[in-house]
Amino acid sequence: MKIFIKNSKEIKKIYKSCQLAAKVLEIIKNYIIPGINTEEINNICHNYITKIEGAKSATLGYKGFPKSVCISVNDVVCHGIPNRREILKNGDIVNIDVTVLHNNYYGDTSKMFLVGNNISQKSKLLCLTAQKSLYKAINILKPGIRLYKIGQVIQKYVESKKFSVVRNYCGHGIGKNFHEDPQILHYKSYDYGITLKPGMIFTIEPMINMGHHNVYVANDNWTVKTVDKKNSAQYEHTVLITNIGSKILTIREEEKNIFKKN
Ligand code: MF3
Ligand code: CO
Ligand code: CO
Repeated sequence: MKIFIKNSKEIKKIYKSCQLAAKVLEIIKNYIIPGINTEEINNICHNYITKIEGAKSATLGYKGFPKSVCISVNDVVCHGIPNRREILKNGDIVNIDVTVLHNNYYGDTSKMFLVGNNISQKSKLLCLTAQKSLYKAINILKPGIRLYKIGQVIQKYVESKKFSVVRNYCGHGIGKNFHEDPQILHYKSYDYGITLKPGMIFTIEPMINMGHHNVYVANDNWTVKTVDKKNSAQYEHTVLITNIGSKILTIREEEKNIFKKN
């Protein structure tokens, strides 16, 4: 295991890539309406990343992934493939996961969107719980903290709401590589004694299920779905460990009043 500590030059570049990814989630908001298909959403994101931002989608062609963003609807947990036959309808919950490559560094972030005005209370709570579990984990970050604490905080909060934490996928170090060490588990597990250090950059991206945490990969070899067909929600940020705490590199404008230190 090799955890890279980033220097200030690298941090600047990763921050830039992270802000480009975050911006995509901001501009796509107005398009997430009943009747749009997920391929159209993909294309808007793709054009924004390439033509406006002058960056590249990191997902396009990654291990053969065919599209520029992951779009995961309802019981899709993650890695949903945008498709013109998948049409969003009132009541859907949708994760859009954006990873960009700019100036040789990656930035990775995702959030949930509610489609229309007819979302069930339970689905709303699921999305809010995923988001709050991410924020609770971010709030404990500082040098010296054991890595397993991240998963412990997320699992404790999610299970207190009677939801479950997906075990099969995790967060990851990020920088010059899309995915690098360490793995960031979202449930409590042995962390090999790793503690957080200034200059570490990694994602936290809890996937939260309404029912059981079991998932499977569909026949397309990408789409991850819940076994019990109940809904799943995910939020993802890329974070930097600083000397005194942490900085959310993928923070969006709408979040800046919640995290005043940023
Ligand atoms: N963005 C995802 C993550 O958070 C990875 C997507 S890989 C893809 O790590 F190939 F599915 F796009
Ligand atoms: Co990620
Ligand atoms: Co991601």
